Amino acid sequence: MVKICCIGAGYVGGPTMAVIALKCPSIEVAVVDISAPRITAWNSDQLPIYEPGLEEIVKQCRGKNLFFSTAVEKHVSEADIIFVSVNTPTKTQGLGAGKAADLTYWESAARMIADVSKSNKIVVEKSTVPVKTAEAIEKILTHNSKGIKYQILSNPEFLAEGTAIEDLFSPDRVLIGGRETPDGQKATQALKEVYAHWVPEDRIITTNLWSAELSKLAANAFLAQRISSVNAMSALCEATGANISEVAHAVGKDTRIGPKFLNASVGFGGSCFQKDILNLVYICECNGLTEVANYWKQVIKVNDYQKNRFVNRVVSSMFNTVSGKKIAILGFAFKKDTGDTRETPAIDVCKGLLGDKPQLSIYDLQVTEDQIRRDLSMKKFDWDHPIHLQPMSPAAVKEVSVVWDAYEATKGAHGICILTEWDEFKTLDYKKIFDNMQKPAFLFDGRNVVDVEKLREIGFIVYSIGKPLDAWLKDMPAMA
Ligand code: NAD
Ligand code: UDX
Repeated sequence: MVKICCIGAGYVGGPTMAVIALKCPSIEVAVVDISAPRITAWNSDQLPIYEPGLEEIVKQCRGKNLFFSTAVEKHVSEADIIFVSVNTPTKTQGLGAGKAADLTYWESAARMIADVSKSNKIVVEKSTVPVKTAEAIEKILTHNSKGIKYQILSNPEFLAEGTAIEDLFSPDRVLIGGRETPDGQKATQALKEVYAHWVPEDRIITTNLWSAELSKLAANAFLAQRISSVNAMSALCEATGANISEVAHAVGKDTRIGPKFLNASVGFGGSCFQKDILNLVYICECNGLTEVANYWKQVIKVNDYQKNRFVNRVVSSMFNTVSGKKIAILGFAFKKDTGDTRETPAIDVCKGLLGDKPQLSIYDLQVTEDQIRRDLSMKKFDWDHPIHLQPMSPAAVKEVSVVWDAYEATKGAHGICILTEWDEFKTLDYKKIFDNMQKPAFLFDGRNVVDVEKLREIGFIVYSIGKPLDAWLKDMPAMA
């Protein structure tokens, strides 16, 4: 029986390994982590992450050929293939701070593999890493090798949260990069055989190591760039009376462009896009490619601009101050169908509003109160560093209350901000909400989920990203 061990039981390690276990009954899969609470949760009825379809798979495989454990060294030493799916956050200090990827967690995993291994191993980079990381990992492993042979493969993950199981069941592609030596090719073939249990052969792409590493950064940069492009257009739509939904539809009909990933929003969030673009920018700068670095930097600048623009719109529309006013925040996760808040635009929007001292009443379908308070108290980039993740006092951020119902959040509110596109927000009883709000009642839709005309008929003053402005908003002072 082939044995797989995955180091890192997070949003990638957990779902990816659960699907391998489901699709490959002949393979034993152990997912290990240094975080004991995380492993305990994986072994309980309350999984540590919310992902549609995941719970059923874990229940089906757990204890058969899928195991979650803190016995990191034991499982690593027994495995034939070791996936490393640990955090690769943005560095918060030292050389490259605020841009470069922090490979501390990766390096400590590699050193541990070198310490405990007693047989040859295939080590798979599942984390998103800077191009050329495999070379550094190879050095760590071979300098401590005691005669053991290691083959490093790059097998970046392309799943998106909220659709992780669908994405893993039928990926657009699986990418495997390896050394172009006979041993490297053998290792690539071994990993290919794992995926071949369910992925059609023409979707498994093999490349050299550096192409695989760079393709992951490139794919995320291209995706994020699309969103910044459509968000930049949304500002121009508001200034001219064009409608971003109509523009995106017309543009996306061009088969060379395509219709996906053109939804204007309050900004992209998630643990990957910003981190990976910053990483790409840093690599370009290190290679003397200043113009290329500046090009990609702009994607993040536009994203920050979009979040600021939203905050300014809210404040300027409400007579230039939200001080002492109740603002309902509907949605805190970075997208629907996940409880993940890493780099969610809701953090920047809430922090931006809190500068003017409103009372925020926050409602999300999946995010816990503890998580929201921790997010609003944490410094930029600290969120992805496990060592910083100390529990916060629930008293932190006293202008914030967290409630479990959209009607409760909006009761007596002066304004509503929709920051996540949860389906529930499309079908709320907005007449009831309007009746219970202060007047004039404002609604700022950062995700284009509400029917603007219907809400205006009810009496709301509605702002929706990139849509023609309400007469009220047109008269308000110009924004930054
Ligand atoms: P995560 O924070 O959810 O999980 C990482 C886990 O690794 C944590 O539970 C942490 O405790 C553990 N860990 C850290 N160091 C360890 C060590 N030395 N030994 C054992 N466990 C250790 O992160 P994630 O979202 O799963 O992302 C992991 C990697 O995958 C990152 O490089 C990320 O960029 C990449 N990625 C993420 C996504 C996504 O949608 N989240 C998609 C594609 C790629
Ligand atoms: C992304 C990549 O899609 C995935 O391939 C990679 O493996 C990890 O990073 P993820 O961050 O989980 O996945 O979600 P994604 O669907 O890409 O959304 C990222 C952010 O962009 C979210 O905040 C989302 O709301 C926003 N978004 C997405 C838009 O604002 N508009 C769009 O049209 C699409």
